[in-house]
Amino acid sequence: MTSETQKPLSGDELVALTKKHSLYEWSAQSKVDPIPVARSKGIHFWTPEGKRFVDFNSQLMSVNIGHGDERVVRAIQDQVAKLAYANPFMATEPRARLGAKLAEITPGDIDVFFFTNAGAEANENAVKLARQFTGRHKILARYRSYHGATAGAISLTGDPRRWAAEPGMAGVVHVLDPYHGIQRGWDDTATALANLEETIQLEGPQTIAGFILETVTGTNGILVPPDGYLQGVRDLCTKYGILMICDEVMAGFGRTGEWFAVDHWKVVPDLLTMAKGLTASYVPLGAVGMRRHIAEHFKDKVFYGGLTYNSHPVGCAAALATIGVYQEDRLIERARSTGAVMKQLLAQLAAKHPSVGAARSIGLFGLVELVRSRKTLEPMAPFNGTSEEMQALGRFFRQEGLYTMVRWNTFFTNPPLVITEAQLREAFEIIDRGLEITDRAVRD
Ligand SMILES: Cc1ncc(COP(=O)(O)O)c(C=O)c1O
Repeated sequence: MTSETQKPLSGDELVALTKKHSLYEWSAQSKVDPIPVARSKGIHFWTPEGKRFVDFNSQLMSVNIGHGDERVVRAIQDQVAKLAYANPFMATEPRARLGAKLAEITPGDIDVFFFTNAGAEANENAVKLARQFTGRHKILARYRSYHGATAGAISLTGDPRRWAAEPGMAGVVHVLDPYHGIQRGWDDTATALANLEETIQLEGPQTIAGFILETVTGTNGILVPPDGYLQGVRDLCTKYGILMICDEVMAGFGRTGEWFAVDHWKVVPDLLTMAKGLTASYVPLGAVGMRRHIAEHFKDKVFYGGLTYNSHPVGCAAALATIGVYQEDRLIERARSTGAVMKQLLAQLAAKHPSVGAARSIGLFGLVELVRSRKTLEPMAPFNGTSEEMQALGRFFRQEGLYTMVRWNTFFTNPPLVITEAQLREAFEIIDRGLEITDRAVRD
């Protein structure tokens, strides 16, 4: 390698070269304006020129333990040096230990895991398990959801990212959520469950293998289910022999202040999918966990599913070390207590800024919905769209060194669980100033 090629690229150079030779996801390429990132540590990342950002979205709601934790870095390095890869028909120490560790922290009698590369594949394999276990083919999913971008997972997805992939996987039936957007609000639990049961009846319960739902909906609005909803879904699934599949790819691993969001409601799903926080994204890994009786089914029957990187030793070693960090640093408890502070800070924003139509959070999983009027609750940007004001708010955050996701009429508050109260307050001070931009667009 010449010294020329070793010279680090400037921010502008690396953006230009990246854009020239790689395709950005979910985007028209001319509209993409990436932040160049050179390094990261804790709750921060830096551009090559040294501009510092607070990572207020944990990248993609996934770097839950914060950036650059040496314990995970070392575990990855050690595993690569010792055994970088073994095929899925082998048994390895990280795979053995990770399954046992996950069995300890997942709810109820979930104690067998199928390991994948990421979240979408965890959901793909959950569908396979549900279909092969029940012998049925339909899968219920909700509209306000994202389950991944592979062919099956994008068909399960309810949000507009699904549209371009249609016609998708056969047998997926979407149902309405208990939440209908900021203007129409929430159903009460009884109504939401009655609507779900009506759909089950109309579709024919004997045709439905599973119901997949994000326990707390992520990108589509940090939608915390009304009390009794998940217990009611559990009861309906049990009544009709439908597998309850909780997608905790985003909500799992302490994000909501519990290991898994289902733990808030003491519900045990039949299948539980995870990724992101499992390794804090240091390397890719996903998994689907299953209850014991589902695993038993595959004792004598073949499980038809596989991946070259199933149970990848480096992914499993990273996950084990990451879970060790959650436990050693008591990050689940910390998310709960810092989450209580974040709830207050969100309430203060709502009290002060007329453009805040709603602010929702659970643990360190939070979102603000912006409106043009508190009377009509007209969103600051239309469904699946943007507006001048939302774009200006995004530019302000970037200029001030606060990285978070701005989507439609919402923005997210999902910092790494290691954030301190002082750091949280600093970030909210930037948000507080930014909301003056959207307040100016409020009509009454
Ligand atoms: C709830 C949920 N499920 C599934 C996925 C897909 O995971 P991946 O992108 O790792 O395939 C995501 C990704 O954002 C997600 O938020």
